[in-house]
Amino acid sequence: MRSTRRSLLTAFLSLPLVDASRVMALAQTAPELPLTRSCHAGEDLTLEREAGPFFRPNSPLERDLYPDAPGGERITVAGFVFDNRCRPIAGGLVEIWHADEKGDYDSVGFRLRGHQFTDAQGRWWFNTIIPALYPGRTRHFHFKVQRPGGRVLTTQIYFPGEARNAGDRLFDEALLLDLTKAVDGKFAQYDFVV
Ligand SMILES: [Fe+2]
Repeated sequence: MRSTRRSLLTAFLSLPLVDASRVMALAQTAPELPLTRSCHAGEDLTLEREAGPFFRPNSPLERDLYPDAPGGERITVAGFVFDNRCRPIAGGLVEIWHADEKGDYDSVGFRLRGHQFTDAQGRWWFNTIIPALYPGRTRHFHFKVQRPGGRVLTTQIYFPGEARNAGDRLFDEALLLDLTKAVDGKFAQYDFVV
């Protein structure tokens, strides 16, 4: 039986906290145990990508964006924000903006735009829809991520299995979502390193 987006999110939120000391302990004692993510001391910072023409400042503090596009396929996208030693960053800004189910951005209001701050364990999540393709690009979400007082990472994350990925000038496999099907849409994880 497949899971729901909610149950997958609940599973994500109940993951044991990954931190550098835990990763090191696992590496020394039980390397066969699955880690909740592949995280290594000296982790590469998340790649930057251009914001493009559709960013608008002052998005609402909101994680439930799917009411903005009730006709779209639902997806819950979630992850951690880590530093490059796998330490979760609490209170980090995570902002999303993306195209709607027709491939259009809202350039007047704030449909499918929102931000939040990571919780004490560095976690964030948005309930939204899968953006449609638009001319010239593969499927993507836009993000800005900022640790408290730090510089802003601007990037884009991508969907696995998309025919247009290979031909997209901004695509990189390091920016792929980990995508799971749910009975009521999809669940995807991406962990930012800033
Ligand atoms: Fe875009």
